[in-house]
Amino acid sequence: MRTFLPSSFVVRLSSPAVIPILASALCLGGCATPNSPNSAPPAPAAPDAPAAHAEDGKQWFREARFGMFIHWGVYAVPAGVYQDKPIRGIGEWILKRAKIPLSEYRAYVSDFTAANYDPAAWAALAKEAGMKYVVITSKHHDGFALYDSAVSDWDVAHPSCPAPDDLLTPLAENVRAQGLKFGLYYSQAQDWTHPGGSTNGKNWDPAQAGDFDAYLRDIAAPQVREILTRYQPDILWWDTPVNMTTDRAQPIHDLLTPFPSIITNDRLGGGFEGDTKTPEQHIPPRGFPGQTFEVCMTMNDTWGFKKNDHNWKSSQQILRNLSDISSKGGNFLLNVGPTADGRIPEPSIERLKAVGRWMKINSEAIHATQSSPFARRLPWGRVTQKVESSGATTLFLHVWEWPADGRLLLPTLQATPRSARVLADGRKVNTTPSNDGLVVNLTGTAPDPDVSVVVLEFNSPVTVTQSAFATPEADGTLTLHPMDADTHGSYAGNINLYGTGASALLTHWLEANWRVEYQLKTPAARTWRVTAEVAAPAATKLKLRNGKTEVPVDLAPTGPGQSWKTVELGAIALPSGLTSLELVPVKGSWNPIELRTVRLTPVP
Ligand code: GLC
Repeated sequence: MRTFLPSSFVVRLSSPAVIPILASALCLGGCATPNSPNSAPPAPAAPDAPAAHAEDGKQWFREARFGMFIHWGVYAVPAGVYQDKPIRGIGEWILKRAKIPLSEYRAYVSDFTAANYDPAAWAALAKEAGMKYVVITSKHHDGFALYDSAVSDWDVAHPSCPAPDDLLTPLAENVRAQGLKFGLYYSQAQDWTHPGGSTNGKNWDPAQAGDFDAYLRDIAAPQVREILTRYQPDILWWDTPVNMTTDRAQPIHDLLTPFPSIITNDRLGGGFEGDTKTPEQHIPPRGFPGQTFEVCMTMNDTWGFKKNDHNWKSSQQILRNLSDISSKGGNFLLNVGPTADGRIPEPSIERLKAVGRWMKINSEAIHATQSSPFARRLPWGRVTQKVESSGATTLFLHVWEWPADGRLLLPTLQATPRSARVLADGRKVNTTPSNDGLVVNLTGTAPDPDVSVVVLEFNSPVTVTQSAFATPEADGTLTLHPMDADTHGSYAGNINLYGTGASALLTHWLEANWRVEYQLKTPAARTWRVTAEVAAPAATKLKLRNGKTEVPVDLAPTGPGQSWKTVELGAIALPSGLTSLELVPVKGSWNPIELRTVRLTPVP
């Protein structure tokens, strides 16, 4: 037996205090909410320079914008239920969440049949949705490999497992036959079944005891070598670097040396940044300017199949998430969690087909586009652009809210396009310059209720001087819109931004360790009176926070459901310049609220 090393790394997990009332009623939409590093806020969005990278074999990824994530494994057998009890949280964590004895969990393998597995249909579905790549879990935290590993018998080739001995090869072949790239997820550190694999210091079965370094040497490294050589994946998707130091990560990282064009993410640990940032379940409001990033997100509230999770995002929300992420220059890795017999849940198929119908008409506004020249989210929708080497620039306006008066403002844009049309039907569009920016005059009704694309062609690059951050208006007040919010959730989910313009709101604030942060720019240090439009079905406690300054807030109920009221949150001193204002729940006294605008008024 190997000795077990206690863990020091703490995975970000949500507290068990979920309040389900709002969950099903209000999570109408997706997790389209932001997050930003706590350090200096990023500079305003600037188009990336694709030419600079063109030779590294990774350019396809920077242009792909849309991929399919597949979480498939033995956890799909219990499907979220253990001993007749629904287990909360993401389905692929059931082994840990329910502390299932390993011998019991292993027995599920005899029902992992893959009997209806149709890799050709999966690949065709990804293609139809307009996706450019597929990433599947070769081994998740439960240690179970979807291929026959030479260093473990806990895999599909297990004598009790009725599934074929290799589920990855047929998928890789079909995905590549569709012209898509093929990626593999591998959980290098957390492994709850191989002795010594990290359980983050919380073993629940004596069979987990062991030495983490020995596990990395004898299981993780050889398995990484196996998947690299057998499948030559285009992407290696690490996850949860629990206990990974540089010394531990280095040998695993070095296995990639023979594969210089492989894309890796920032989750190997040990300080290895990889090629991509991986915001999970939220969309950072300004993306990561100049950096490659990929937002991964579930369609309901789980990655691995859970039979009782019916909390599906609408296809409109999914489409708008794709539009939002593209406008920030990132990719959207959208998850499906197949059943143990290999069926992608019908609601996922419906949504992917809906996105596919939209992509058939509008994909040029997504694929190979660059981030919006507008640094802030626009109230009516989003923008992507293509800049040719000649400088000629196409702006794609993703109109989420087709204006009743037909008028769309492109703030601070002074150039005049040489042509303007609706992408879906070629309808001509007029534009007029104004002091506030370019006004686009739309006629008729939206060709698409979710996202209509308007194409503006310019002879040269466009210049936009819009501020990336909320700043005071002429009357001195400062308004923070739901769209300005950076939401900080966890691996288990996040606060959702739902709707746009005046109807936008932050909802699904289920956990007391999730918080909202706004970045703003003030001309002088001063005290501000803070009011907010909230719907609070139950009394709740939170804090206004700026660095070390905290102001306690006691919120009385505003009424049942969505009873909106403008309430006083208190007064807080903020320094001058770029700073932040956070709304932080008080643990133990938190009940979910929904939030619209937050308004700051200078205290004389
Ligand atoms: C988290 C979870 C994991 C899921 C992944 C997807 O790291 O631990 O279950 O696979 O996120 O991004």
